[in-house]
Amino acid sequence: MNKKVAVFRKERFNAAHRLNNPNLSDMENQMLFGKCNSPNFHGHNYDLTVKVTGYVDPKTGYVIDTKILSNLIDETILEKFDHRNLNLDLVEFKDLNPTAENIAMIIYNILREKINASLELKIILNETEKNYVEYPA
Ligand code: NI
Repeated sequence: MNKKVAVFRKERFNAAHRLNNPNLSDMENQMLFGKCNSPNFHGHNYDLTVKVTGYVDPKTGYVIDTKILSNLIDETILEKFDHRNLNLDLVEFKDLNPTAENIAMIIYNILREKINASLELKIILNETEKNYVEYPA
């Protein structure tokens, strides 16, 4: 019997970005990225869900203490992403398009290092109400 439990923590941040591939023409960028190619940036309210899966610790009854998880997301992700221009403020996106896919992977990599390796980690990131990504898939 699988006794693993998934724990979810939801957070929100807002950030500006511009999707653009400098190797493509203005026309191609406009076709590919639409409004997200707008030259002077624009913002999104990102809904971040962090999913941690593992076995319940018999000592605490927790998979992970949500207070610890919450503080970790606060310090490593929200501090870094909230109210930022992702293209200009975050070195990670200097040469990487800040799509929801890439943002989710960056967030995963940051948190993966900080969360016990015995726990599984998944990032779900909503860029809009209707569009969201999950990493790892
Ligand atoms: Ni956008």
